Amino acid sequence: MIIAVDGPAASGKGTIARALARHYGLPHLDTGLLYRAVGLAVLEAGGDPASASDALEAAHHLSSALDDPGLKSEAAGKAASLVSVHPDVRAALLDRQKRFADQQGGAVLDGRDIGTVIAPHADAKLFVTASPEVRARRRCDELLGMGLDVHLEAVLHDIRSRDERDSARSAAPLRMADDAALLDTSDLTIEQAVAAAIALAENRPFTAAND
Ligand code: DC
Repeated sequence: MIIAVDGPAASGKGTIARALARHYGLPHLDTGLLYRAVGLAVLEAGGDPASASDALEAAHHLSSALDDPGLKSEAAGKAASLVSVHPDVRAALLDRQKRFADQQGGAVLDGRDIGTVIAPHADAKLFVTASPEVRARRRCDELLGMGLDVHLEAVLHDIRSRDERDSARSAAPLRMADDAALLDTSDLTIEQAVAAAIALAENRPFTAAND
């Protein structure tokens, strides 16, 4: 079983994808980490993530480890969004993602273009979203929990510009696949969102009130 989970930043798609992977006993790939690794490598080399050649150079020499805690930083997230605009960078990361999706037994992948580009043949496709305000609140709480000094307005501004860049780019923009199920987590707890995701993956109805 291949499960594609797409959606904008801080929508809850990562949490949901990890829970689905646990539920079905499937391996999981957070594809945002690949773009973050490219973005961070460009920054560490003193390059410019907006430069196609700097980004492609980093993509070609990407290490296979995706466990660097620095990948979770806001700087890496912003650099990831910038490098992901370049079609050659996306092409360089394509094979690794497709092989992961098509491994024997199936997999869960989350990102922006899983249901549209990486695994259009996925057995279940979810598009996870939430209002920008709710996503900003969640991201803010997460960053405050990490001891960082952040402000809701600034986080909301970053979320909106990330949405804009990820949706407006011409190469594999953030877009809900025609056959994906929409899951708006704005008013759901994590438990409700996960239960809804499992119900949608199994093509059965879910109402938060009954759960
Ligand atoms: O999901 P995330 O916040 O870790 O992703 C970081 C950036 O990487 C995101 O702003 C756009 C890019 N990305 C992408 O273009 N395609 C994907 N499948 C995953 C992430």
